[in-house]
Amino acid sequence: PRTAAVIPAAGRGVRLGPGAPKALRVLNGTPMLVHAVRAMAASNAVVLVVVVAPPEDTPGVRNLLADLALPDRTDVVVVPGGETRQESVRLGLAAVPDDVPIVLVHDAARPLVPVDTVDSVIEAVRDGAPAVVPALPLADTVKEVTPGEKGTPEPVVATPERARLRAVQTPQGFDRATLVRAHDTVPADGEGATDCAGLVERLGEPVVVVPGHEEAFKVTRPLDLVLAEAVLARRRA
Ligand code: CTP
Ligand code: MG
Repeated sequence: PRTAAVIPAAGRGVRLGPGAPKALRVLNGTPMLVHAVRAMAASNAVVLVVVVAPPEDTPGVRNLLADLALPDRTDVVVVPGGETRQESVRLGLAAVPDDVPIVLVHDAARPLVPVDTVDSVIEAVRDGAPAVVPALPLADTVKEVTPGEKGTPEPVVATPERARLRAVQTPQGFDRATLVRAHDTVPADGEGATDCAGLVERLGEPVVVVPGHEEAFKVTRPLDLVLAEAVLARRRA
C-alpha cells in the first residue's frame, strides 16, 4: 500500500555537542538526513518522504535533497519543523495527502535502518495493526529511580523485569487516520509523549511491537557517530 514517511529532522542535537543541527552532520561524507531519506525511499511502498527541517535551514535542506537520485515513485517534500519532536511530526503529517493510507515516522537520527525493518513495519500495518513499533530486547538491566540533584545518589524505586521490556526504535508505522487523530487529541499544554506510538496508546488503540534491528540505533552522543561510521565502512567492505 502507498506509504508516506515523515522524517523529523528539526532537532539541534544538543547531546551530540556543538556543531550543525544533528540531521546535517555528516557520516562518511554524507549528511545523516540523506542516509535517512535513502533508507525510507529504499522501500518499494514509499511514494512520499516528508522531511521536517530545522526552520532556519529549510531552504538549505531543500537544496541538499533536490539533487538526490531517488526512485521515480518517491517524491520528497521539505517543511519547517517546530519546538519539540511531537510538534515537528504534527507539521510533517499535515503535508501527507488524505489518500495515503499508511504513514511511517522515522528519526533522521536513525540513518542506518535496514530496508527489511522498514518493510516489516509497513507489512504489520497493512495486516491491520493501527500502530507498529520496531523494538529490541534490552542488554542492560533498568532501574526506576527518584531523580535527585545532579551528582547525588538516587534512590531506587523498582527494577522492572527486563525480559518484558523493549527499547523502541523507528520507523514507527501507523494507519494515517489513527495517527492524525492521536495528534489532534493531545492537549497542547499537556505532557508530551517521547514517541508517536505513545500518543496512540493514550487513545486506547492497540500498539504492537515487531523486531527492530541493531543498525537502527539512534545517533545521540559522540560515540554513536563512531559506531555509525564503522557500520557504513563495514557495509562498503
Ligand atoms: N526532532 C525534531 N524537532 C524537534 C526535536 C527533535 O524534528 N524540535 C527530531 C530530531 O531531529 C531527531 C528526532 O526528532 O531526528 C529524535 O530526536 P533526538 O534524537 O532527541 O534529536 P535532537 O532533539 O536533535 O537531539 P538532542 O535531544 O540531543 O538535542
Ligand atoms: Mg531531543
